[in-house]
Amino acid sequence: MGTALVTGATSGIGREIAWQLAAEGNDIVLVARNVPALEEYAERIRTFTGQKVETLRADLATEEGARAVGERVASRERPIGLVVNNAGFGLGQSFLGGSLDRELEGMDVMARAILIICHAAAGEFARRGYGAILNISSMTSLTAQGTYSAHKAWVRTFSEGLAETLRPHGVNVTVSCPGLVHTDFHARTNVDASQWPEFAFIPVDRVASRSLDAVRRGRVIVTPSPVYAAAAGILRLSPRALVRRVAGPGRSGRAAGT
Ligand SMILES: NC(=O)c1ccc[n+]([C@@H]2O[C@H](COP(=O)([O-])OP(=O)(O)OC[C@H]3O[C@@H](n4cnc5c(N)ncnc54)[C@H](OP(=O)(O)O)[C@@H]3O)[C@@H](O)[C@H]2O)c1
Repeated sequence: MGTALVTGATSGIGREIAWQLAAEGNDIVLVARNVPALEEYAERIRTFTGQKVETLRADLATEEGARAVGERVASRERPIGLVVNNAGFGLGQSFLGGSLDRELEGMDVMARAILIICHAAAGEFARRGYGAILNISSMTSLTAQGTYSAHKAWVRTFSEGLAETLRPHGVNVTVSCPGLVHTDFHARTNVDASQWPEFAFIPVDRVASRSLDAVRRGRVIVTPSPVYAAAAGILRLSPRALVRRVAGPGRSGRAAGT
């Protein structure tokens, strides 16, 4: 894949994807907001894999941050072979009574930034005739848990359309829809992850390896666990009224400390 750019690469799924890509011999561009975490992880990857690692501090909730990443993705001097749009977070609030700024931040990071970065990637990758994009959605894209589900459904649908648009130009687009994964995601959202049984969690290394495997195979949608693939099938076949009832707003987990 040459050089891979990964957003949200300092923690969880993005961190593991960056690690696996570097261990395979790819150079990496790490993107996140926390500069010390970026620098510390870049040095670790360089030391253990010998690969070149760049860091790019960008707040993807801002247009400036998203465009800076788009510019790096479209660089002809330092070409990127794979873009991984992974950065994201749970909103940790109900729509009714919640902060509008937080809602807009979620939409900016998990939809608008992905649109901007994919637009840059699409133009450059199609021009030169190769490249790949991996977007991280979620199983919640098939549920009705509020705006987070809506953002992840947007990522999924957008990626499917983009895959068809770019396929004739030699560019693959894959969207990964993981279920529960132990990362910083739940603590950052103030959700108590211990409320779910351990078997419901997919190991982060498996999410990363199955997602990257789907990229190599040119698959458009991957649900990186057989249990969640079965759950996705059930969700697709279920009446939406039932889905809204069992996986609607307020069903995304108990807050920590309650
Ligand atoms: N964990 C799960 O159960 C689960 C399940 C399905 C899908 N997902 C999805 O998987 C993706 C990764 O989540 P994770 O579980 O690995 O979460 P995580 O451990 O909390 O990592 C999130 C990453 O995103 C970065 N990030 C957050 N806001 C950002 C912003 N405004 N600008 C730039 N970077 C930002 C964070 O770095 P900085 O804070 O340094 O910026 C961090 O590197 C997300 O899209 C999430 O929705 C997670």
